[in-house]
Amino acid sequence: MKQRTPVYITILVILVILFIVYFMFVQSTSFLTSPYFWGTAVISVILALIHHAIGDLIENQKFSKLNQAEKAQYLELRKTPYFKGLYQSAFQKQSNTEEKDILIDHGFDGIMELDNQLPKWWLGLFWFGVAYCIVYILAYSFTDFAHQTSEYDAEYKAQTASIAEYIKNTPPPTIENATYSPDNIAAGEEVFKTNCVSCHGEGGKGGIGPNLTDNSWINQPEKTLFKNVFHVVENGSPNNPAMQAWGKNGVLTGFDIQNVAAYVYHINQEVQPITPAQGGAAPQGTVAHWEK
Ligand code: HEC
Repeated sequence: MKQRTPVYITILVILVILFIVYFMFVQSTSFLTSPYFWGTAVISVILALIHHAIGDLIENQKFSKLNQAEKAQYLELRKTPYFKGLYQSAFQKQSNTEEKDILIDHGFDGIMELDNQLPKWWLGLFWFGVAYCIVYILAYSFTDFAHQTSEYDAEYKAQTASIAEYIKNTPPPTIENATYSPDNIAAGEEVFKTNCVSCHGEGGKGGIGPNLTDNSWINQPEKTLFKNVFHVVENGSPNNPAMQAWGKNGVLTGFDIQNVAAYVYHINQEVQPITPAQGGAAPQGTVAHWEK
């Protein structure tokens, strides 16, 4: 007869597995306050105790059928603490008589095969894996529960809703409160490439529209360069309808104008101007003296 696993170990293993399964499905520890979790935990513990009690009965039955010597041996075995026994069974070699019992009747080159039993923990893990597979495949195939596609859809909806919420609550910048920020240059370059490059040329070097990299400006309604660009893009040019009122016409939002104004500011102030010698358009208007 073998020593049995103490019931507290069984209960511990069950609780750990329950925790893992709940955590995998709920994906947070919020289930720790749920009556379902504690319900399953309590029922599992009761089942483990019943299972153990039945084991006790069987053990008593078997024990009464042993002869005197075997009884003494078993009582001796029970004195070793559980974990010590576990360690020994994992690392101790079988005695010669034990080995003879499980020797399979074939071998090769003197190597013999033993019919060892699979360890309980291995079998337990195996059956748990099989059961888990079945639950998982059914849940995956027939329900939306913890399914990537539905999770993706839900997350996508939540994200778009939060973006819409943000845009609703954040009024677009106006010429009064728009500010230059280097963070907007890249986004502004995209706006420029989509809407402006056809007339103002690659990098703002000029073409149908004036060179935006030099210091000569036809339109100077504002005192600072950034606000000036914002103004012209929002209201267009009073002299030439080719430069339309992008903001007033509703083509660009305040955000777009703030971005593209940052880009124009950048190519005008922070990089070298593209001169006529380098393929840029000749200066138009008068030299500007922008305030900082
Ligand atoms: C259809 C051609 C065209 C497009 C597209 C265009 N512009 Fe212009 N833009 C012009 C012309 C022409 C002028 C000169 C207006 C004038 O003579 O007053 C101008 C003037 C300007 C000025 C003032 C320059 C100055 O010297 O006064 C700025 C700034 C400007 N555009 C920025 C932009 C931006 C930014 C975009 C894209 C959102 C854009 N433009 C798109 C044709 C265009």
